[in-house]
Amino acid sequence: MPILRIQNLFGERINVLAGQTVLQAIQAAGIDWMYACGAKGRCTTCRLVVTTGQLYFGPLSLAELKFLSQGRLQENERLLCQCTLTGGDACGCIPEQTKFPHVVYSD
Ligand code: FES
Repeated sequence: MPILRIQNLFGERINVLAGQTVLQAIQAAGIDWMYACGAKGRCTTCRLVVTTGQLYFGPLSLAELKFLSQGRLQENERLLCQCTLTGGDACGCIPEQTKFPHVVYSD
């Protein structure tokens, strides 16, 4: 089962099950994560800055392609409500802009 490690959340390790979006796996792990549009691919608040394992997130969704073309999503970022993780592990960081004030981050 692929594991996503969140570097600036004290290296939290999240098991991502087959058929789950990465956001669903994060929520199942009880981690508070921003998803302002309700996981509909209409905002970019669920994004993760991917540091390793980008190829394991699967193809970009139409929403991600749209935000990329608008410059609202970077090449090294994924919308976690839009993607799965299969075939290998990955690491990433929560962007500064989408951190919660009530959550303690490690850097
Ligand atoms: S929660 Fe809005 S795009 Fe993912």
